[in-house]
Amino acid sequence: MSVAKKQYKRVTVKSLVEMKSNGEKISMLTAYDYTMAKIVDGAGIDVILVGDSASNVMAGHETTLPITLDQMIYHASSVIRAVKRALVVVDIPFGSYQSDPKEALRSAIRIMKESGGHAVKVEGGKEIKESIKRILNAGIPVMGHLGLTPQSIYKFGTYTVRAKEEAEAIQLKEDAKMLEKAGCFAIVLEKVPAKLAKEVAASISIPVIGIGAGNGVDGQVLVTHDMLGMTHEFNPRFLRRYLNMYEEMTNAFKQYAADVKSVDFPNEKEQY
Ligand code: KIV
Repeated sequence: MSVAKKQYKRVTVKSLVEMKSNGEKISMLTAYDYTMAKIVDGAGIDVILVGDSASNVMAGHETTLPITLDQMIYHASSVIRAVKRALVVVDIPFGSYQSDPKEALRSAIRIMKESGGHAVKVEGGKEIKESIKRILNAGIPVMGHLGLTPQSIYKFGTYTVRAKEEAEAIQLKEDAKMLEKAGCFAIVLEKVPAKLAKEVAASISIPVIGIGAGNGVDGQVLVTHDMLGMTHEFNPRFLRRYLNMYEEMTNAFKQYAADVKSVDFPNEKEQY
């Protein structure tokens, strides 16, 4: 099933740049806990993102804004304990890097020191350039995130496709080049037209990992709970469901309840 061009015992930020230059696509998925991270890593996924989507998926918030730095560190340290091969990237949450570069660096250091994560991810372009540089200067690898940036949802107003207008597309291309020049090792590009995403990926040497950005980029990322079909109310066009876990789990829970009620569970072999 694997179409890896080179076997990596441990994926590093350098491996990802190498994959891009070898034309090997990068696989990335989210994880927020030990058990899921162990399965994702064991399956050979290249990058595990401890995304601030944990705010939605784990805590049930409507947006990614409420999750705190302490909560992200808790999730990331659980993931790190499970991972042997993948590169683990941790989102710096909203409110922990936007006010000034020193705060950004302090947050990135806390993530690296307290969780053991391998890199951090931040959302935005030129407006956070100084913060990115400050984090990179401390030796911490940074992944950028452009296009639909969910931490700015109240500025955008909706989760629709970004950069359809020329002015925004031009700004996005400039931001991608800026992130490359600053020293970011990769960029997530979320929900932008496939043609634009392909152009961006071709214009820079660092990998562009897309979500809802077509197949002309250097890799793909999905939220694991979505691709497993555990969530069922979220149905964007870009989402491919590999399982219908919502139905499978519901059936299992119903069967368990029925077995308990009918005293079918536990049976004689399942007791001491
Ligand atoms: O938080 C997250 O899960 C993300 C991905 C959607 C890229 O940023």
